[in-house]
Amino acid sequence: MIKPVKHILVCGSFRASGAPQGVCAKKGSHDLLAYLETELADRGMGEVTVTATGCLKACDRGPILAVYPANIWYGGVGGEDEIDAILDAMGTDSVAEELVLK
Ligand code: FES
Repeated sequence: MIKPVKHILVCGSFRASGAPQGVCAKKGSHDLLAYLETELADRGMGEVTVTATGCLKACDRGPILAVYPANIWYGGVGGEDEIDAILDAMGTDSVAEELVLK
């Protein structure tokens, strides 16, 4: 098993019942997963793992994406433009300031 160097958590709005019911899923967070995986492969960022999660408790700012170990949380990640900005920042060890939850 190879442990990831960096981890992107994408809120999948999953609840204990198993059904995704929250804001992030309703705003399309599940659709971000395939694009993220493709972009990471295209950019040669194999050290990054993507995982869909339960509700990250910031629903009013969703869709939410969190990057670890940097512990940077992004909100309003609604599509490819936002994903590109975040991955561009990760590629230079910087932060996509315009999307950061504060
Ligand atoms: S459903 Fe995504 S933060 Fe709650």
